[in-house]
Amino acid sequence: MAGLDQLEPIEKAGKDELAALQLKRLRNTIRRAYENVPHYKKKLDAAGARPDDLNQFADLAKFPFTTKDDLRQNYPFGMFAVPMADIVRVHASSGTTGKPTVVGYTKNDIDTWSALMARSIRAAGGRSTDKIHVAYGYGLFTGGLGAHYGGEYLGATVIPVGGGFTERQVQLIRDFKPDIIMVTPSYMLAIADEFERQGFAPADCSLRIGIFGAEPWTETMRAEIEKRMGLQALDLYGLSEVMGPGVAQECAETRDGLTVWEDHFFPEIIDPDSGRVLPDGEVGELVVTSLTKEAMPVIRYRTRDLTRLMPGTARTMRRIERVKGRSDDMLIIRGVNVFPSQIEAVLGREPRLAPHYVLEVRRPHNLDELDVLVEMRPELSGKLAAAENTALEKKAEHLIKAYVGVTANVRVLEPGTIERSQGKARRVIDRRPKS
Ligand code: DLL
Repeated sequence: MAGLDQLEPIEKAGKDELAALQLKRLRNTIRRAYENVPHYKKKLDAAGARPDDLNQFADLAKFPFTTKDDLRQNYPFGMFAVPMADIVRVHASSGTTGKPTVVGYTKNDIDTWSALMARSIRAAGGRSTDKIHVAYGYGLFTGGLGAHYGGEYLGATVIPVGGGFTERQVQLIRDFKPDIIMVTPSYMLAIADEFERQGFAPADCSLRIGIFGAEPWTETMRAEIEKRMGLQALDLYGLSEVMGPGVAQECAETRDGLTVWEDHFFPEIIDPDSGRVLPDGEVGELVVTSLTKEAMPVIRYRTRDLTRLMPGTARTMRRIERVKGRSDDMLIIRGVNVFPSQIEAVLGREPRLAPHYVLEVRRPHNLDELDVLVEMRPELSGKLAAAENTALEKKAEHLIKAYVGVTANVRVLEPGTIERSQGKARRVIDRRPKS
């Protein structure tokens, strides 16, 4: 279907047309949430905010935020704005503590999501004639099914592999010759390793495009994946509470951050401490209001993801910068704020180190200590003398101190020692006593 390979009219619309559509949808969403979800009625009433108060975008600041906690308190289905009979699917995100957060979709929501994922794949350079290997996990996680429905909507051939069984991933890529892979960037690297273990050069495989997301990654990792896999790597963002993957996607022609699909999501950036709305260009926490969701509209959902809003380039719609991490992933080591992705970026400056790492935080004598465990490049295996290994560790420690500002103990390990993820990588092990 050739039509599906073209931009949708709204992707080419002018700013005014987009803004008018957003405002109309925003008012509608707030009204529907207020009238159909008791939680929103209570919260808006308590804040003295009425749906009719919203006449321009700036008025949104009068409305209260929604957090993961609000979803938990209404577990499992209390945030739904439609009768259960109209819900055709649920997803949930596991969360490290307590109850999962549950989200629901009507038939129209699934159609919208599929269309947005198709739009995302197209923006990454995918076409209806492509074969797509989906290695995001299927199930309650939104990655697998989100990519799957989007690929089908685009008219592509979807290969629903899911996460895990890494040997089989390699076999299927070699035999089915997909054009596109959709997977977490950390699992992509594990698949690249498996290619090599089996004696094949991953760069010779058929893949042309990789659409990576669900976890923070860096430009260094992009370069690594592109070189090893011989493909163009693009960033895909989303979160289950807001829909799933397909909230924002990097466009292949510009590769300069992720275009937010603003006809369906209204983004704001706030100061995470004060909650004040920040002007475009300033870094803060991304807050999203859904504009078209029926089953579970979200008003000013606090994503905890840190980024900034930038003007549109490949599209009229605004972009977000690559998400460098969540405010709750931020480690505070002796008072210094550290994101795992900052350490990743620094380690990437040393060509003898591989992008497989884990951070361990301990508090042995009431003082935080940061251990950075990182693998050496496979070709160095067994070749580094003890003194060279120590020198490499010292060099990495120096780089971390210079660029991130924290003192770390680096341990350079043999290839394959650090556990590989089959989905979202676990980068931090916090062994500090819980206060
Ligand atoms: O991870 C949805 C998704 C699936 C996105 C596949 C992209 C690809 P959750 O499990 O609810 O949903 O986790 C959402 O993951 O708040 C971010 O912290 C992080 N995240 C998602 N995409 C990116 C990205 C899916 N491209 C949480 N860069 C979000 C950095 C990301 N972090």
